Amino acid sequence: MVELSNFTSFFVANWKLNGSFQFISQYLESLNKEKFTKKCVVLCPPSPYLNYVKDLSKHSFIGAQDCSCFEEGAYTGEISTKILSDIGINFCIVGHSERRKYFKESNEAVKDKTLKLIENRIIPIICIGETLEEKNSNRTNEILNKQINESVPESANEHNSIIAYEPVWAIGTGKTPTLNEIEDSHKFIRKINKKFLNFKILYGGSVNIKNSKQISDIKNVDGALIGGASLKIEEFIKIIINSSWFNFSY
Ligand code: PGA
Repeated sequence: MVELSNFTSFFVANWKLNGSFQFISQYLESLNKEKFTKKCVVLCPPSPYLNYVKDLSKHSFIGAQDCSCFEEGAYTGEISTKILSDIGINFCIVGHSERRKYFKESNEAVKDKTLKLIENRIIPIICIGETLEEKNSNRTNEILNKQINESVPESANEHNSIIAYEPVWAIGTGKTPTLNEIEDSHKFIRKINKKFLNFKILYGGSVNIKNSKQISDIKNVDGALIGGASLKIEEFIKIIINSSWFNFSY
């Protein structure tokens, strides 16, 4: 299992349903020239490319975008945590809002997947976040509290799991919460339970080269989960280089 405490910050590239052999080889040709001490870079390609990215990548870790609740058996189309572990995958995004929305993934399913990932020594990146409607009706904290309580299992701790706060309305829209709102939500998450105090908590939702430096200055934010901007390798590299994340203790 990756030792999370070895890193001051985390940059997770969520490629979603994008990529090709040509894209990957050009991407890694650029990325492999960089070595970011103490900054943990995780590439999450579509699953058929996991091995290819793993073989070509020199300094990055590899993450899956989802996994199955099931271990093995008659579950056509599923990919188990055991298989992900077998091919050497280090991280896995779970509960992304697109999975919750388009594939009706429940908190219960997220918890199940998280449990299986931890058992297989893969770090879950557990996504939570409110919709615009929930934000506008001042329910952000209530929603975060519910998602955390229902999707993070007992066995999750600061060494084996990461949380990503991703307001649903900020994903792929170019809109972001204010810096204070991000800080407040991260602080709130840490306070839900004592054990979250030292968790790595990432921010995600329209992170780009224009806002990443400011977001990286927020004390309670340990890194970013990046979609659109992670597909442009030059921008992704700049985001990593320009960030000012240090190792805070809370
Ligand atoms: P975005 O996506 O950076 O394109 O907003 C983030 C995510 O979905 O994880």
